[in-house]
Amino acid sequence: MILPDASIGVLGGGQLGRMFTMAARTMGYRVLVLDPDPHSPAGGMADQHIQSDYTDHASLDLLGDACSAVTTEFENVPAMSLTHLSNHCPVRPHPEAIAITQDRIREKTFLQENHLPTASFQPVLGLDDLESAAEKLCFPAILKTAALGYDGKGQVAVADLDAAIAGYRSLGELPCIIEQKVSLALELSVILARSITGRIAVYPPAENIHVGGILDYSIVPARVSAAIAGTVTEMACEIADRMDYCGVLATEFFLTTDGDILINELAPRPHNSGHYTVDACLTSQFEQQVRTLCGLPPGDTELLSPVVMVNLLGDLWQKGAPPWEQVFRHPRTLLHLYGKRHARPGRKMGHYNCLSDDLEGALEMAKTIRTSLEPADLVTQA
Ligand SMILES: Nc1ncnc2c1ncn2[C@@H]1O[C@H](COP(=O)(O)OP(=O)(O)O)[C@@H](O)[C@H]1O
Ligand SMILES: [Mg+2]
Repeated sequence: MILPDASIGVLGGGQLGRMFTMAARTMGYRVLVLDPDPHSPAGGMADQHIQSDYTDHASLDLLGDACSAVTTEFENVPAMSLTHLSNHCPVRPHPEAIAITQDRIREKTFLQENHLPTASFQPVLGLDDLESAAEKLCFPAILKTAALGYDGKGQVAVADLDAAIAGYRSLGELPCIIEQKVSLALELSVILARSITGRIAVYPPAENIHVGGILDYSIVPARVSAAIAGTVTEMACEIADRMDYCGVLATEFFLTTDGDILINELAPRPHNSGHYTVDACLTSQFEQQVRTLCGLPPGDTELLSPVVMVNLLGDLWQKGAPPWEQVFRHPRTLLHLYGKRHARPGRKMGHYNCLSDDLEGALEMAKTIRTSLEPADLVTQA
């Protein structure tokens, strides 16, 4: 076990790295963050910010030598960097698991090989593949780049083969998957922590509402039957077991209008839809990341209150900082801002968690606050 006062590291200094750093420091660990951005959200919270590119060997050596273990806040770290680091100290989750989740072709193939349900898909490595895929899939479909996509980026919806060809070109002819567009009833996510000895602690499924490919808000517990909650929970645990995973794992699910449960994608780290755990659960997803990284058993995931988490995107900053007093008026809503200097449309700037004795109350509070944060003239126009 790696115990407090030891130094631990994280690759990436965004909001996930920042909340990891805060959890780790609260528990008494020293934290090193490696991120190229001099103003990264996590850098200022860390004991040491190594400002460097993710592929810089000298910086990776520095991090690996100073730390008892290293984790990552995002899946797009070059595999080479993780392998390089693992010559110095344990890297958790292990690089093979991260490699699966950083490439949609590998990820979906892994799920398929393990008989776990996904939307029908075909890998696309060239224009020829698109034509043969079109014979096997029904349109409409979605073309997604295999690597580096997030928040709906690197995706195009396509209605037929011609649109798919145009879409593939617009994505730079990069390796892609083309997958069936499914009719969504609901989206869910399950976040779990799996220890180095294989002990799993799972959070209750979150119900996620996306707008324009970006998570807008999450409702917990999800408004689904116990049977559905049980099935998605079992699937998430099975994935973690099959990968002999160590760390926090998020699994996104689609519930279709036909009643099918499909796995959408995996994230080898804490997840935006798990931010509710910080205020509404006994142990947060970030403390779980610290615990699993340090070889400790996972903490209790009990949900202490119904909760709605609302993302704050840069769009809200059009007229300057939103009127935060509208959030602070509510004693059971907790504001989290990531300390980003520049707000851009679609950029995740923060979130708030609304707690209430019942979900209806939490949802109403979430909506009232959101409206009160909209830039003034937009509200008047509405
Ligand atoms: N096959 C699909 N059918 C219907 N909706 C989809 C499909 N794939 C993605 N979406 C929608 O787009 C969102 C983002 O897609 P996702 O594959 O999760 O990419 P990202 O990595 O950007 O989160 C999903 O949460 C869902 O709302
Ligand atoms: Mg997603």
